[in-house]
Amino acid sequence: MKKIIIAIDGVSSTGKSTMAKDLAKEIGYTYIDTGAMYRAITLYCLQNDLFTNGEVDRIRLAEEINYIDITFLLNPEIGKPDTYLDGINVENEIRSMEVANLVSQIAALGFVRRAMVAKQQEMGKEKGIVMDGRDIGTAVFPEAEMKIYVTASPEVRAQRRFDELKAKGENTSIDEVLKNIKMRDHMDMTRTESPLCKADDAIELDNSKMTIAEQKEWLLQKYYDKCRD
Ligand code: DC
Repeated sequence: MKKIIIAIDGVSSTGKSTMAKDLAKEIGYTYIDTGAMYRAITLYCLQNDLFTNGEVDRIRLAEEINYIDITFLLNPEIGKPDTYLDGINVENEIRSMEVANLVSQIAALGFVRRAMVAKQQEMGKEKGIVMDGRDIGTAVFPEAEMKIYVTASPEVRAQRRFDELKAKGENTSIDEVLKNIKMRDHMDMTRTESPLCKADDAIELDNSKMTIAEQKEWLLQKYYDKCRD
């Protein structure tokens, strides 16, 4: 069967990654989490003291951006890829609230986006990928054969993210998570560089009232429909 590019965009904490990962596994495609790439750059800035009072040193980051190595390696135990920063598995660290609170600032920088988009286009050039993010269907692969735009209410998303963080033992409150989600929605949608928006030809999914299994089924059906086109 002809391989295609599947772009899954939408607001944060909608379970996009879970849907995208499950679909990729089911149909034998490569899954790429582009949010993890912006998170890894943010972690790099934290680890290398590029932040002063919450503001990143743009000049240093611009000098170093092309030397930061971000890769994905399949974790055989869970059957899904983990994120590596300069050869070290950082899958847990990049999901912390500390990174979540700083990542939108990093993702808004034009030179960071250009570097990440170039990597993403390279990763997808053979097709057969499911890529999730904010600008995949609009900027990274505007010609993607299948585009999905996922939304859910901020309260539902906050509850999901809070449960996830709690399960990992992170000490946070639902109010803090909701505040972070609203702040990131605002920053992602209003930034000058590739703001988050639905591509005209994307199919919209509001999954506020859906279970993970229902979303998975919905997405798989859309993929089979696309293959019949
Ligand atoms: O999907 P996520 O929550 O892991 O994404 C982390 C941040 O990165 C989020 O605030 C938006 C940004 N992002 C982006 O600007 N473009 C992408 N393609 C993916 C994520």
